[in-house]
Parts: sequence; structure tokens; C-alpha cells
Amino acid sequence: MKIHGRHYRTIWLDEDGWGVVVIDQTRLPFHFETVRLATAEEAAHAIRHMTVRGAPLIGATAAYGVALALRVDASDAALEQALALLGATRPTAVNLNWALARMRRRLTGLPQAERVAAAYAEAGAICDEDVALCHAIGEHGLGVIREIAARKPAGEPVNILTHCNAGWLATVDWGTALAPIYLAHDAGIPVHVWVDETRPRNQGAALTAYELGSHGVPHAVIVDNAGGHLMQHGQVDMVIVGTDRTTASGDVANKIGTYLKALAAKDNGVPFYVALPSPTIDWTLQDGLREIPIEERSQREVTHLFGQAEDGRTGFFQVAAPGSAACNPAFDVTPARLVTGLITERGIAPASAEGLARLFPDLAQGQ
Ligand code: MRU
Repeated sequence: MKIHGRHYRTIWLDEDGWGVVVIDQTRLPFHFETVRLATAEEAAHAIRHMTVRGAPLIGATAAYGVALALRVDASDAALEQALALLGATRPTAVNLNWALARMRRRLTGLPQAERVAAAYAEAGAICDEDVALCHAIGEHGLGVIREIAARKPAGEPVNILTHCNAGWLATVDWGTALAPIYLAHDAGIPVHVWVDETRPRNQGAALTAYELGSHGVPHAVIVDNAGGHLMQHGQVDMVIVGTDRTTASGDVANKIGTYLKALAAKDNGVPFYVALPSPTIDWTLQDGLREIPIEERSQREVTHLFGQAEDGRTGFFQVAAPGSAACNPAFDVTPARLVTGLITERGIAPASAEGLARLFPDLAQGQ
């Protein structure tokens, strides 16, 4: 995507050909800064502390983290140590496990002298493939937006609600939930996006709004509690969200609060779509509510807010009563029955075991 007139991906190799550069997402939207990752430990830290975040980008960063580890020591023991370190960073996004399993498959059995080059090549391939998958998701989702636009009076925008950030910042480029929106906007279809602020870390207000604004897509930030009201008043034509892990039966884990949006959408007859690349499907799981691990993050994310003061200084501000305890589950699970469709790189599947298996017989079969 273009930022300040330059095309960026969210992760790339430095000029020296081995350092890994990422955009520091903890500094957005106020400062656009990059960070260079030079070791597996730094890659793990960037994932854990959310310098990078979003399921596909977490996977891509971990893959490069393996390459960084092997530069220092290409032995089997070092490979296993790096896989364990990176695999323990965040528990919910299955793209992390997927990318690390792919790295292990590619590297195990290779002579040590070939491992570093192979690791960089595989991490690069994961990134390039993610861009292609997200663009394909965009094309399929564009069809849905086009259909809704055709039913509206000419010139009226399609109002789309999204939660968290599932745009290009969450992937390598394009995004999942936002890819169809970018393509619709670029195709001249009027769209308007309701951006859930997405407490506690405000990925919507900070990142999605930043992305949409940079691309010129009309949008408005709303508090997390506003979506239901807007739906009751006919101001939402569809919801599109991303996901961190979707089960083989179509249950969807995504940022905390997604489930409540799905309930409100169901009650108001608003289509609720989830956009995802196939590496986000966990073919080993059936029951999302019981089986998907939900990350618990620090209480401080709830009691404090990151923002910019009027004098331009950025920092954390306490919003909760001093001394109050907080509880911070980072994701929730939306049952398949509340999902209108899963927008994937191969097309739109009903959120069911049959629906997913029909689109991905090759992947579903392996389980
Ligand atoms: O905690 P985060 O910011 O990593 O959570 C991100 C999300 O919940 C996204 O919606 C999800 O990863 C899909 S990204 C294409």
C-alpha cells in the first residue's frame, strides 16, 4: 500500500539482504517508524509486544525469525530452539504455527550449509503468497460489495462495519477484511466504513482508520458499543472482519468484541462476512469455543490507553480507577451459525465443515 507516496509492504529485507525491517505498529497512527530485526529474539519480541500484529503478519515475521536464528547457528538444535521461541509468542493466531511448521518441513533434512538461504527463500515465499492470497480475497469480496451496491440507490455508499485491523498492516499487503473495500473503492464503488475503535488496544481507531485515511476511503471511527445501534437504524449494509483462527467447522476466533457484532448483525439481518486466507484455517479443530486458545493480555491494556496529548506528546493515560483489577481476553469466538460466509482466496464458503471442505478438499483431506 502507498504511504507518503511510497509503496510499502509491512515486512521486507534491509539493504544488507538479511536484516528484517517492519513498521512499528505501536507508534502508529502518530509516527511512521520502522524497526530492524536482527535476531530471532528480536523477532519474537516484536510479535509478543505487538510491534507487528495481525495473524498473517505474525506468521511472516516468525518465518523470518527462523532465518535470523539460522544465520547464527544452522544446527538442528538451533532450529528447534528458534521454532519453540517463536511459537510461544502469541497463542491464538494459527498462522504462526502454520508458518513455523512450513519452515520446519522445508529445513529439516537439509545440509546445514544450505539452510540459511533456504530459510530466507521460504520466508520470502510466505510473504509473496500472502500478498497473492489477500488480493484474491479482495476480488471475491468485491463481488459481494458490488451486489449490495447494485441494490442501493445510485451514488449511495455501501456502509461496511469492520472490527479491529484486518487491513494491509495485519498482513504483508492488501489485508483480508479490508482488501475487498480497497478494491471496491478503487473500482469507483462508493463505500463508507464504520471503524470500531477496538478497545483495549484500539487497532481500529489507530490502524484501520490510518490505513483507510491514507488510501482515501471514507470512514468514521465509532466506539465499540455503537455498531448495534447503527444496525438497528439501517446504517450498516454488511460487516466484514478478519480472523486469527477459524476451525474446520467454520467457528471464527477474532479480536474481542467480534462475537457481539455478529449477534447484533444476526438480530438485524445484516450479512456478517469473515475474510481469511487458508493458512488461518485450523483443520485440526472442530469446536472453536472449547478448542481455540484465547490469549489473555495484561491488565494494563485495559486500565490505560495509548494516545497523543494536545501538546503532541504520545504516551499511556490511565482511564480506570486506580487500584481496580481488570480482565483482558484478547479474542473471542463467533460460532459458525452467525457467519454469513467465509471469503477466502478460492471463493466464498458457507461457514460449515462441508462448505470449507468443498473449497479446500486438498487441505481438509489431510486431517
Ligand atoms: O491482537 P491483534 O492486533 O494481532 O489482532 C488482530 C486481529 O484480530 C485481526 O482481525 C486478525 O488477525 C485478522 S488479520 C488479517
